[in-house]
Formats: sequence, structure tokens, C-alpha cells
Amino acid sequence: MTAAQEPALHALADLLAAMPDPAATGQSTALEQELAAAFGVRHAIAVSSGTAALHTALAAVGVGPGDEVLVPAVSVVMSVAPIVYTGARPVFVDCTSSGDIDLRDLAAKCGPRARAVLPVYLWGRGGDPAAVTAFARQRGLRVVEDACQAHATVSGGRPLGTFGDLGCFSLKDGKILWSGEGGYILASDDELAATCRAYRSHWTTPPPGQAPLARLGNNYRLAEPLAVIARANLARFDDLARQRHAQATRMLTETTAPGLTPVAPPPGETWNGYSPLWRISLPDPRGFCRRLADRGVPNSVGSFGLVSCDQRPMFTPFSPAPCPIAAHVVDTTLAVVLTAHDDDARISKLAQIIAEEARRWTRDPD
Ligand SMILES: Cc1ncc(COP(=O)(O)O)c(C=O)c1O
Repeated sequence: MTAAQEPALHALADLLAAMPDPAATGQSTALEQELAAAFGVRHAIAVSSGTAALHTALAAVGVGPGDEVLVPAVSVVMSVAPIVYTGARPVFVDCTSSGDIDLRDLAAKCGPRARAVLPVYLWGRGGDPAAVTAFARQRGLRVVEDACQAHATVSGGRPLGTFGDLGCFSLKDGKILWSGEGGYILASDDELAATCRAYRSHWTTPPPGQAPLARLGNNYRLAEPLAVIARANLARFDDLARQRHAQATRMLTETTAPGLTPVAPPPGETWNGYSPLWRISLPDPRGFCRRLADRGVPNSVGSFGLVSCDQRPMFTPFSPAPCPIAAHVVDTTLAVVLTAHDDDARISKLAQIIAEEARRWTRDPD
């Protein structure tokens, strides 16, 4: 047991002694108060996953059948699936060559059925969240941010996840703030927060003035033992964020190789370093990513088969026109997947493998 784990273990022992009496715990409620204070917002709503956070948030802003939700093609299945769960249609928006949402394509695809924009901050990058939010306000659209990978990224002095109506985060292992599984929603509006709370728990605790069980909801509650782990990690959140940023910086600095160019953060952004990122200018970049995965370097394309979301079979019915720049950006981005366990020695080893393979790939691509 490390010193960092000790507070969580003691709190878990106390919780186990109190369980299964539901009235004797209150860890999720305490977590919500601490998250709201940490982000400087009025409300945080703890839920069972980032997916649950997005589904809850979309339902809370009123997205439903017949609506369209604008979402970047550079995103993951978990960002888009919740849109489909509501009965709405995802409309995929292309990106610029830097990988951030293309505001011109956003405007071009915003039709009369558009109800919300769901910006996805993949790899912790926010692009220009202020511009996206301003566009949405101008068009009367709601903004639900997918900040699941964006803990601790700040844009123009403001944390990602606090720009829109609701900001959604994941607490899954591997995220900078983690609890095994879990998620949370940030809200500044009292009514939206109350609606999220009601939806999270089958409308048993309705917003003021409404009857219990008057509407359909879900069981998206965060389990109390996971709230204990989340609270212990939130207490050392600055350290966890510093660590991830240092890991990414070290890896980017140590990997000097032909055909790999580090991707700079967008202007005005203090990036969290979620995944060290390079643009690949080598032949068969997806093959290169797969080779790295085979050699033990976990990465988005090679290990997890990331493709532009408009190309996924379950979403192609919603995708009349492809998003060519998104496909190119995903295919040519090396994003290494890190966890808090990656110490300096492992980071250096991974950097060495990447550089070695890049040199080899240039000379002798398979
Ligand atoms: C960008 C993004 N959106 C949504 C999710 C969904 O979060 P979860 O796995 O907690 O459901 C994740 C995490 O997997 C993610 O990285």
C-alpha cells in the first residue's frame, strides 16, 4: 500500500462498516460538493459513468426523437451512443487540420432540427470552446460538453466542462481523475442540475414542483465505494494532473524521430497532456500505430482501432457525407494511452520504442 492509497483504504473500511444501510453513507453527495467547489460551479451530479453523464445531460436539456445533435467526427463511440439513446440523430462535424472542430462545417451542418452541440475534447484538447459555445448561443442551441478526457485542461483561464450548459466527465480508470468506473456532470443552472439528479435515479427525487416518478429516468447512480475512491483521488487531483502533464511532456521531449511531429495545444489552452500526440508523416500510419501496439505502446489507433466516428457501422446511417479531414487526422495521429502507473523508466522505454520503430518504418515499412 502506498501513502497515496491510505486515505482511500481507511474511508473504504468505514464505508463497509456502514453498508448496506443506504442512509448511513453519503459519499456521493460529499463527492458532488467537493467537485463543485474544485471546479467553481454551483452543482456537480455524480453518475455511474461518462456515458451515463452524457445520456443524462442530453435528456436534461430536452434532446429527444426528431432532434439533431452536432458532434465532432473526431470522437469516440461513447460520445455518440448517448445521442442515439435519446432517439436523436447525430450530425457529424468535420475538423480542421489541427483536429479541432471546424466552425465553418459546424455552421454549414446546423439545420432547423438541431437542438444541441456536443463538443468532444478528445485527448484532452478543447480547440476553441468559447467559439463553439458562442455559436450555439447565437443559434439557440444547448451545449453538452464531453470533457471525459479533459480533466484539468483550461482554455482562456476556464476549465473545460464549464463552458456549456452541462459538462460531462468520466472517472473510468486511465482518466486523470479516476475511481474504477464513474462519472459526473457539472452544472451552473439549478433547474438543469435538478433535472439531471431526477433522471439519474428514475425520477424518484424530482425537481421542485414535480411529482416523483412522473417521468422516465434511469439508474445511473454512482456506487458509494467508487465515490470513496473518487473523493480520495480528488483530494490529490492537482498531483494527478501534474503527473499526467509531466508524463506527456517527458514522452514528447524524449521521442525524437523522423516522421513524428508533436501536436501543439490550441492557442490559449493549458492542455492536460492526457495523451502525448504526434502527427505521423510516415507511410501507412495506421500500420505504424498497430506495430507500436504490438510492441507494447498502447495507442488510440493501434490498440483501440480509433476511426473517425462517422465511419463506424452503427453510425453510418446517420452520416450521409463523410468527414474527410477527420478521417485523415485520426489516421495520422499517434496518441499514446497513459495511466498513473507509467513511471519515468516506462515513459523512457516507450519513447525509445516509438523512436526506434519510426526510424525503422521510414527505411523499411512493412
Ligand atoms: C471522450 C470520451 N467520451 C465518453 C467516454 C465514456 O466514459 P465511460 O467509459 O466512463 O462511460 C469516454 C471514456 O471512455 C471518453 O474518453
